[in-house]
Amino acid sequence: MDKILILDFGSQTTALIGRRIREMGVYTEIIPGDSLLGGETLAEVRGIVLSGSPESVYSPESAAPDPRVYSGSLPLLGICYGFQRMNYDNGGLVEALPEREYGRKQVRMLGNEIAGENGDPAQVERMARFLAGFDPRISRQQICSGGVKAASSVSFTAWMSHGDTLTRLAPGFRQYGTSETGYPAVVIHEDRPWFGLQFHPEVSHCERGMEILAAFSFGVCHCKTGWTMERYIEEIRASLPARLGDTQGAHAQAPVLLLISGGVDSTVAGALLLKTLDPERLHLMYLDTGLMRKGETAGVEAGLRRLGARHLHIIDCGEAFLGALKGLEDPEAKRRAIGDLFITIQEREVARLGLPENCFLAQGTLYTDLIESGKGVGKKAHLIKSHHNVGSPLVEAKRKAGRIIEPLDRLYKDEVRRLGRLLGVDEEVVRRHPFPGPGLGVRILGEVTREKCDILREADAIFIEELKKRTTPQGKSLYDDIWQAFAVLLPIRSVGVAGDIRKYGWVLALRAVTSADGMTADVYPFPAGDLLEISTLITNAVPEIGRVTYDISSKPPATIEWE
Ligand code: XMP
Repeated sequence: MDKILILDFGSQTTALIGRRIREMGVYTEIIPGDSLLGGETLAEVRGIVLSGSPESVYSPESAAPDPRVYSGSLPLLGICYGFQRMNYDNGGLVEALPEREYGRKQVRMLGNEIAGENGDPAQVERMARFLAGFDPRISRQQICSGGVKAASSVSFTAWMSHGDTLTRLAPGFRQYGTSETGYPAVVIHEDRPWFGLQFHPEVSHCERGMEILAAFSFGVCHCKTGWTMERYIEEIRASLPARLGDTQGAHAQAPVLLLISGGVDSTVAGALLLKTLDPERLHLMYLDTGLMRKGETAGVEAGLRRLGARHLHIIDCGEAFLGALKGLEDPEAKRRAIGDLFITIQEREVARLGLPENCFLAQGTLYTDLIESGKGVGKKAHLIKSHHNVGSPLVEAKRKAGRIIEPLDRLYKDEVRRLGRLLGVDEEVVRRHPFPGPGLGVRILGEVTREKCDILREADAIFIEELKKRTTPQGKSLYDDIWQAFAVLLPIRSVGVAGDIRKYGWVLALRAVTSADGMTADVYPFPAGDLLEISTLITNAVPEIGRVTYDISSKPPATIEWE
């Protein structure tokens, strides 16, 4: 399958470059920027992207690509640092800007004639196809189907984030677009298939960003689309037996244990394994900590049974968690208590299953979980998926023994959702907002009690239900428009009236944020009418709650969760 290789120099948006290109059906792989580019690494690679970086090319910490990237014939696209790197490594000059250039900036295309220094027709053709990405008269569909070439002198809004700039291009490069500050923003080598952008086409605020990435992938690299979730299922089906050490005629195939959290990732991992393995072989374990949302455990159980689970172990351990949380008010102490107990119960229950020593442990690790900003895939040696598993002797032992399987580890979250739909996972689960491992334990501030869990569960369910019913002016449900929404129960009561009497009710906070990955988040700009109506619905239905507030803090400085 054709692929675009991305050399990761540590930019926050490297993962996004891969995702954008994959959205167009071309497979991408991200490797550390300084990886050796030997034979296997370049198999089926049609082009290489050099990502951005928080470093400067002249800083001693900055990583440089394997020099073979410049001696080979593969097309290169340098983005931000990658663009500066490509020039610097080939004789250009990079210097610090007096002021960092950040955010939306205009880029003006110069409308240069595309000639190529030596008039190499193949390079002239590539340049024209690349520049088609910038031409507003040309659609992405036209670009993806290949063959279009154009360049007009236009301006567009790009997205910049750099403190250095190129003050002298390396020999052979020519400028085709310039930034507001007059520095090079789009450059192309005259006789090598090398392209450079000072801005970030992968960021959604960049006009023509997708078209530019399409122009590189299809117009320059001639990639064929081959990346689909149907194909992924087939690949997993074909590769799993070898991974699990199954041999022809083996009578005792190793069982596989998957710990289910109820979220999208582990559920889709379960669905994929149920589809690609003999379901008799798969054990699914779910711990109901009593800190789950309303109806969650029943939903998980029904969903997995519908997907064909035969060995589903639902462990009811709510009492134990409430016991461990008794008297605890400090957020860290609560998190620790939940995490520790989770591991203890998990170990006990896994032992109780009596699975053989050679059993495999499956995890719903995603591709993005493997990409640690600044390090790149492959450098983060021992990845542990969720806080539940941190320090878990079970995970450690299985990892040491090479008996962990992570069937989603090449996928982005949106691809996992697509895969989930294809495998018949409930739409409810596929669309579900993220939910923290410690559950309601970190959404009930202060001491957690059963009564408070019940109050919060009711209020949260009303909030979420209403978000699913209500729509934006564009017809999208508020729930789908929001990245994460939930209710938080505060450890205070405030005064109110019920009929003629004064009463003290709990204070509830509603939280709703937009975000790309949870690293930063903005407050969801709620239509006031919806917020007022939802508040009334909650106080009418949950009499213990006397007051509802809306959290208007973004992240940073606040976090998404309250504890
Ligand atoms: P914060 O509160 O740090 O949350 O802004 C960022 C995202 O991570 C989720 N979160 C967790 N997820 N275990 C998890 O699996 C946890 O302990 C945990 N704490 C926070 C949070 O819901 C948000 O989506």
